[in-house]
Amino acid sequence: MHPIILAIESSCDETSASVITNGKVLNNIIATQAIHQKYGGVVPELASRAHQQNIVAVVSEALSTAGIDKSKLSAIAFTRGPGLIGSLLVGVSFAKGMALALNIPLIEINHMQAHVLAHFIDEPRPSFPFLCLTVSGGHTQIVLVKDFLDMEVIGETQDDAVGEAFDKAAKLMGLPYPGGPLIDKHAQLGDAKRFTFTETVMPNLDFSFSGIKTQFMYFLRDEVRKNADFIEQNLNDICASLQAHLVGMLLKRVEQAAKQTNIKEIAIAGGVSANSGLRKSLLAMAERKQWQVYIPAFEYCTDNAGMIAMAAHYKFLKGDFADLSVTPLARMPI
Ligand code: KG4
Ligand code: ZN
Repeated sequence: MHPIILAIESSCDETSASVITNGKVLNNIIATQAIHQKYGGVVPELASRAHQQNIVAVVSEALSTAGIDKSKLSAIAFTRGPGLIGSLLVGVSFAKGMALALNIPLIEINHMQAHVLAHFIDEPRPSFPFLCLTVSGGHTQIVLVKDFLDMEVIGETQDDAVGEAFDKAAKLMGLPYPGGPLIDKHAQLGDAKRFTFTETVMPNLDFSFSGIKTQFMYFLRDEVRKNADFIEQNLNDICASLQAHLVGMLLKRVEQAAKQTNIKEIAIAGGVSANSGLRKSLLAMAERKQWQVYIPAFEYCTDNAGMIAMAAHYKFLKGDFADLSVTPLARMPI
């Protein structure tokens, strides 16, 4: 049997749906919620409402562009967690309703596992075991991936995610949300050695990004006291220096993890993997260390249902279904 699965993602601020047939992702429909820009960050209550508004259209588009009638579906998959509970509830309830109406099984997906499994949507695919650095606005993890559904988090942030550090730093400089891509853009024109920051050293393979946020705030405050136009005059250099510092913190841990596990297959996932500084430094490090590096297409790096569909495919093959009493989880270990 060739399973045909509809997958739904609604954990944060993207409403997304995807259809996968026999392991091939046919499409990846994403409705991004622009409303949060106005507030400088994701507002959970508004995110839930926007999911509720978008979900029918997004699912209909996924089915119609795939040319699949809903009566042909083998299962419905959804993100169970981790994420914003109000956002997750929309996807979970919708999936349950559809599974009940069509009398087909439900598949619950861990969003963080799905970020890792995005690497199996297109070629080239990493081979097991590999390490995946998952970096986004909500997550910063190093995952030891032993098999499709067998993963272990070997390092993670104890406070903010690295994307959050990018976005908060951008906000302090008066840049709009999400500021990560803008810091990247300015960084490409700046001198990364101009300003230096210090790192909060964490034990093992863990990260901490709340210290740099505070340090950066005081750095700007002190410089602006001396020169009111400091930010405007030095924006490129500030962005380049901060970005190099954040990328350095990430890669130091990846290097340690690779050494500890003796693994040379290294993948990155999540929105921050779009960062040009991270990509460049990772590729340079890979050349020195003879790693194979895997970076998914951008549409599968940020939150998307294609990755949920990919994860659902492997769960379907295992016969791993959820029952109708399943509830979303704000926190959900991998
Ligand atoms: O994976 P994602 O779309 O959503 C979740 O947070 O789950 O990641 C969004 C994050 C934001 O913090 C955004 O600023 C960051 O990814 N981001 C970047 C870049 N593109 C997106 N950060 C730095 N450089 C980029 N080029
Ligand atoms: Zn995510």
